[in-house]
Amino acid sequence: MQLDVVTLFPEWFDWFRGQRHVTNALAAGHELRCLNPRAHTPLSGGQVDDTPFGGGAGMVLRVDVMDAALRGFYGVDPVELRGRRRVLALTPGGRMLDDRFVNELAQEEAITLLCGRYEGFDERIIQHFASDAVSIGRYVLSGGELAAMVVCDAVLRKLPGSLGHADSALEESFSEALGGDPEYPHYTRPAEYRGWKVPEVLLSGHHAEIRNWRRARSRERGASSGGGSLS
Ligand code: 6GU
Repeated sequence: MQLDVVTLFPEWFDWFRGQRHVTNALAAGHELRCLNPRAHTPLSGGQVDDTPFGGGAGMVLRVDVMDAALRGFYGVDPVELRGRRRVLALTPGGRMLDDRFVNELAQEEAITLLCGRYEGFDERIIQHFASDAVSIGRYVLSGGELAAMVVCDAVLRKLPGSLGHADSALEESFSEALGGDPEYPHYTRPAEYRGWKVPEVLLSGHHAEIRNWRRARSRERGASSGGGSLS
């Protein structure tokens, strides 16, 4: 998988790149690249954004700047690019990221993530250059970078080799293996701490009972969080 992040703040991703599951994914041959539109802007003084038509607060990332940036990076018209690879525009009004969407993205060979800043993108960037608009929740972040990191993290950990244990990502919260419910509770040593005991069944060694217990707890959590049982 090749993940390209188009961002005015590529240095934000230096920290992310150093995290264990990310270094594992990169060592396994996956790629994470950052592209700064400022490096390609046709405007003087490194200008990339402008005041919104119609007035209002903040600045908007210009469509001509994004056009030049994507063209400079990929050597094709960005209108064509979105037919060749998934191009995600990170924006609070986009399609909500969930486990199903993450699995869909994890199947892709190559993804480009466009990060807006300040008040976001000129709408024509989303309309003409993006294949999808993506949101990570109903709240507003000051830019797309953290949302892009969330998407990259969620996708990379689905790829073989990113996590220590091959099955770690299979039976986890919201997965099909758990019927879309949150994950069951985990416990480790000590078996008793300040009088708080680990559920007896987990110490029993009865694998079928443990499986049943976990599935039941997972369902309970799904029901109480109004969560989406897949079945
Ligand atoms: Cl993708 N971007 C911004 N700026 N804010 C958000 C978001 C994205 N998702 C939730 N809030």
